[in-house]
Amino acid sequence: MNLADIKRVGVVGGGTMGFGIAINFALWGYSTVIRDLSDEILEQSMKQVKSAMALLVEEELITQKQADDTMSRITTTTDLEEVAANSDFITEAIVERLQDKQELFNALDKLCPLHTIIVSNTSGLVLSDIGADVKRQDKIGLTHYFAPPHIVPGVEVAKGPGTSDETYNIIYNLMKKVKKVPIRVLKELPGYLLNRIQGAMSREAHRLWAEGVATAEEIELGIKAAFGFRMPHEGPFGHYDLAGIWKWSADIRAPRRTRQASEPFDEATEKIRARLAEGKPWFVDSEKFDEAIEKRDREYIRRLKELYWSKE
Ligand SMILES: NC(=O)c1ccc[n+]([C@@H]2O[C@H](COP(=O)([O-])OP(=O)(O)OC[C@H]3O[C@@H](n4cnc5c(N)ncnc54)[C@H](O)[C@@H]3O)[C@@H](O)[C@H]2O)c1
Repeated sequence: MNLADIKRVGVVGGGTMGFGIAINFALWGYSTVIRDLSDEILEQSMKQVKSAMALLVEEELITQKQADDTMSRITTTTDLEEVAANSDFITEAIVERLQDKQELFNALDKLCPLHTIIVSNTSGLVLSDIGADVKRQDKIGLTHYFAPPHIVPGVEVAKGPGTSDETYNIIYNLMKKVKKVPIRVLKELPGYLLNRIQGAMSREAHRLWAEGVATAEEIELGIKAAFGFRMPHEGPFGHYDLAGIWKWSADIRAPRRTRQASEPFDEATEKIRARLAEGKPWFVDSEKFDEAIEKRDREYIRRLKELYWSKE
């Protein structure tokens, strides 16, 4: 099985995520069928598809012809057998309930042709639970999109315990083909990668609000005006590089103790300490640090003009 063998895709669940995932596949040429539980729900899904397409055209991201072609590639059904029989690749985007996802995976496993790959868009469940009873262990995987999935580029791509390398590569390359930015997640764990990072920030923000450190409005504003402003250009590793933290002396660069001094660091903290002790950037060429800073600053200035100063 190759990427080129995937010609028709199915999306099961046409809600908030499903209709956008369907748009993304159809926009880049795939014949796409959405399955949901009733005609009324599917009508709603198609209304959302239509208005999303109108907005993409109005904002000149795509042409009217692209929108018309996309619409012509999307069909709907309430019949699971129909999706199963006509899909080389199926994305599950139904309600976040383990039992429902397990039942769906088991049913699809029985109904789909042997070559069909089935992936889940779960936010917090793990594939080894969702697909526990599936026979085609080598042909299941995870694609975790971010709302709205027809616009946000990043998609996490992860394996279950039995996912073959061939399947994983097809999923990864398929995401690239539909112009997503796939992010490889190397281990299976609840929340996978990005929701865990997002969760860490949310937990701290909620706690600081509850402790009365700032109002919800001010926390939101700070995150948008500081992190949000910088984040199109840098994440936590890039920030370490560009803020020049790698140049600081070793004693202030090292992660601080948050527990008793007598307690040993855990394995992950030791690993981070060892890496940071090297005193070198993650990505930036230390010989070209000034160039990297100038590039960053130019981008920041453009963003400042566009997002803040133009409104004054
Ligand atoms: N909403 C988000 O921001 C977001 C982001 C990433 C991942 N997810 C995940 O995507 C999945 C879907 O989330 P959502 O926000 O689109 O939910 P939603 O409630 O908007 O949509 C779910 C749809 O699935 C349908 N459905 C339920 N059981 C079904 C079945 N057996 N067959 C076919 N359709 C069925 C429902 O009728 C509904 O239309 C969840 O697993 C969620 O955790 C959501």
